[in-house]
Amino acid sequence: SNNLLFDLVLFGGTGDLAMRKLLPSLYQLYRTAAFHSGTSIIAVGRSALSREAFLTKVRDKLEQYLPEGSWDTVSWQQFSKHLQCVSIQANKTESYRELIPLLSEDHRPRTFYFSTHSSLYTAMASSLGALGLITPSARVVLEKPIGRDLGTARNISHQMSNYFTESQIYRIDHYLGKETVQNLLVLRFANPLFESLWNHHYIDHIQITISESIGVEGRGEFYEETGALRDIVQNHLLQLLCILAMEPPATIEPDRIRDEKLKVLFALQPLKGDDISRNVVRGQYTQGVLDTKKCSAYTEEEGVAESSTIETFVAMKILIDNMRWSGVPFYLRTGKRLPNRSCEIVVQFKEIPHWIFDTPRGQLMSNQLVITLQPDESITLRLCGKRLGPGIDVRTIDLNLNPSSRGNKRSADAYERLLLDVIKGDQTLFLRQDELEQAWHWIDPILEDWESSSSPPEYYACGSWGPAGSTLLLAKDGRLWHEGVSG
Ligand code: BG6
Repeated sequence: SNNLLFDLVLFGGTGDLAMRKLLPSLYQLYRTAAFHSGTSIIAVGRSALSREAFLTKVRDKLEQYLPEGSWDTVSWQQFSKHLQCVSIQANKTESYRELIPLLSEDHRPRTFYFSTHSSLYTAMASSLGALGLITPSARVVLEKPIGRDLGTARNISHQMSNYFTESQIYRIDHYLGKETVQNLLVLRFANPLFESLWNHHYIDHIQITISESIGVEGRGEFYEETGALRDIVQNHLLQLLCILAMEPPATIEPDRIRDEKLKVLFALQPLKGDDISRNVVRGQYTQGVLDTKKCSAYTEEEGVAESSTIETFVAMKILIDNMRWSGVPFYLRTGKRLPNRSCEIVVQFKEIPHWIFDTPRGQLMSNQLVITLQPDESITLRLCGKRLGPGIDVRTIDLNLNPSSRGNKRSADAYERLLLDVIKGDQTLFLRQDELEQAWHWIDPILEDWESSSSPPEYYACGSWGPAGSTLLLAKDGRLWHEGVSG
């Protein structure tokens, strides 16, 4: 039958990510693909939890986090038959024996999903290895952030390679699983119209924004040792930048795409010394009002030190030193407690060299491609056209490039798509070790600079678009952040 047959062991299986994203995605996968009756999903937690208590918790969370219309009792009853839970002490190899009776011995894909603090990855791999649980059909998914700098990331890579081959390791970045990101590959590499203009001759600059209205949501402790640079920039934002900036790969094979992404990372202009304060803005939210609700400051969140200088906002200007992008700035920003949740890419084209019309041309008159990943997926191309009527008056026209015939097709959630890729053994949308290390290599000097600096982050009120420095970063270059969808 075509039903999916696999074993999935979810370390961190009772944690935040599992409850909010992984289990809801597995439920959706069950509804679209159907599981073979032998399939099992084993959630591993630290503390003992009865299967019943676990199922009650999952059910609650599914009802809370699934998109409207996705919950139904019959699917839940069927799906929950595939769920197990066990408790394991990460540092005690003996306790991993709990897994043995739950794993099947046939050749089905056996996936270990590591969704815990990355400092535990090595211990988990070595215990699984010691008990002979890493079979040839086994694979491991590593959740981000992997390490906290280049040194720790390398150490994890090195240790993992004692137990898994590179083709068994799936370094996940769920932003690559979003529908629009894959559409971007088609847009760029199937349309000569875009491909011919996709360079410094025609593009003025590119902006990428990931904004969130939520704060740290009970993850204060995690956030205190992470911060926005490690949580979002090192992975999600740099990955989006790579997909936008890479050269056309020769084929769609995973390694050909990853080769091209890696070349972009190699070409990022390194930031050091004074470049860092000139090109990188570090912000932290203070009290404010968001959606008419009063929100507390970051330093008032649970698990956060009163004197914390951890950043909840980053804006930066990046240059790519290669033939295609020389002199074209990429402006990236991300933050918590911003006015809304959105993810948006703006490709701003240069002005036409000579303007012959009477209508004044503002910045708005230049062509713009706006790619929105969240909250809704859309691609819009801004062109100029003539206003209907006498004379020649120029106005902008927004051309909608969204799929018109999607019908009722639900677009899969990022994790759902990526989990299916893992089960099928497709590594295209996962990071290779060299990419991960190169991303850390570029980020490290910024981390070091901030750690050694005595100046605090710039403050911004909850519900604003970040500190003044962020606006200034673009203003210095005579530019503005795009506030279309996001403002
Ligand atoms: C995660 C970060 O990787 O991405 C979170 O750890 C963040 O802090 C989340 O909230 C955002 O993901 P999405 O898909 O909801 O935009």
